[in-house]
Amino acid sequence: MKRKSHNIVPWRMSCAPMMDWTDRHCRVFHRAMSSKALLYTEMVTAPALVRGRARHLLDFDGAEHPVALQLGGSDPQELAQAARMGADHGYDEINLNVGCPSDRVQSGCFGAVLMEQPALVADCCAAMIGAQPKPVTVKCRIGVDDQEPAAVLPDFLAQIRDAGVRRVAIHARKAWLQGLSPKENRDIPPLDYPLVHAMKAEFPDLHLSINGGITDLDQVEAHLRAGLDGVMVGRAAYHDPAAILLDADRRIFGQDRAPLSRAEVVEAMLPYIDRHIAAGGKLGQVTRHMLGLFAGQPGARAWRRILSEGAHRPGAGRGLLLDALDATQAAAA
Ligand SMILES: Cc1cc2nc3c(=O)[nH]c(=O)nc-3n(C[C@H](O)[C@H](O)[C@H](O)COP(=O)(O)O)c2cc1C
Repeated sequence: MKRKSHNIVPWRMSCAPMMDWTDRHCRVFHRAMSSKALLYTEMVTAPALVRGRARHLLDFDGAEHPVALQLGGSDPQELAQAARMGADHGYDEINLNVGCPSDRVQSGCFGAVLMEQPALVADCCAAMIGAQPKPVTVKCRIGVDDQEPAAVLPDFLAQIRDAGVRRVAIHARKAWLQGLSPKENRDIPPLDYPLVHAMKAEFPDLHLSINGGITDLDQVEAHLRAGLDGVMVGRAAYHDPAAILLDADRRIFGQDRAPLSRAEVVEAMLPYIDRHIAAGGKLGQVTRHMLGLFAGQPGARAWRRILSEGAHRPGAGRGLLLDALDATQAAAA
């Protein structure tokens, strides 16, 4: 019999960790659209946390739950300590990044380069699991450079499963560590969805989530129908958040609830924005993540323009959002 756990529900659809993008303001905005989708932080490196330089990055708003902290690192003790800090802060899950190909990350032996060291990844996961009570998950690629994904991915999954990991998100393409920029590494290596589906058949006890190139809820549903446990959406959720998130509670999580309108999402963000500004924050720190709210809709250009031009002016606050909303609705009429 399949074991059920409320913990597993948010895993059906998640918003991917994205550096500089999925900060706490972005996550609050995404949460305003879906009460269920699992949200990931940007990657925070374990050394930066443990040595105290980045503790402020752990702060999040209570509204964000369920929210997962993504860590980067390759030292088991350091990662264990960072995982404990994340759990103490109230994160619902601690995720290890084994997929990020950037130079900075390679030089510190973090991210995708760890696909070549599954035993070390397993040690890291075991240490993180032993150090704190929250689930430890991994986000990985299907391989790097000249690795043969069909050979290395099952071995990688078996090793981390044996270390106690139960959930893995797989970005369904290789990372090429030499010669491609991080951005190119998100587009050029070809996607191999069938391999990820084959891993679910080979590892029925692992909760597997697929990631890479998924751009709408029809695709999310198709992957779930085909047997995967979850779907992780990155860029599409950022650039066109309403298309991915507004109807996710109903379509993906089976909630009997009509989606908010885009205007209602703006309204829902106002109290958070007021609090942020009252605490000394800047409007643009929040609204930069909201520029795509009307993507593909009539009036989208007015929305983007008014927010981009006005958010950094002294004194900018909720009034700018309401003006932008009026102009968007007028342009659409
Ligand atoms: C701006 C940006 C930053 C990213 N930062 C991270 C990161 O910190 N950690 C990580 O595991 N992946 C990171 N990624 C990769 C995404 O999580 C995701 O795996 C990738 O974009 C493919 O999914 P998509 O096609 O749905 O965007 C980043 C992607 C983008 C576009």
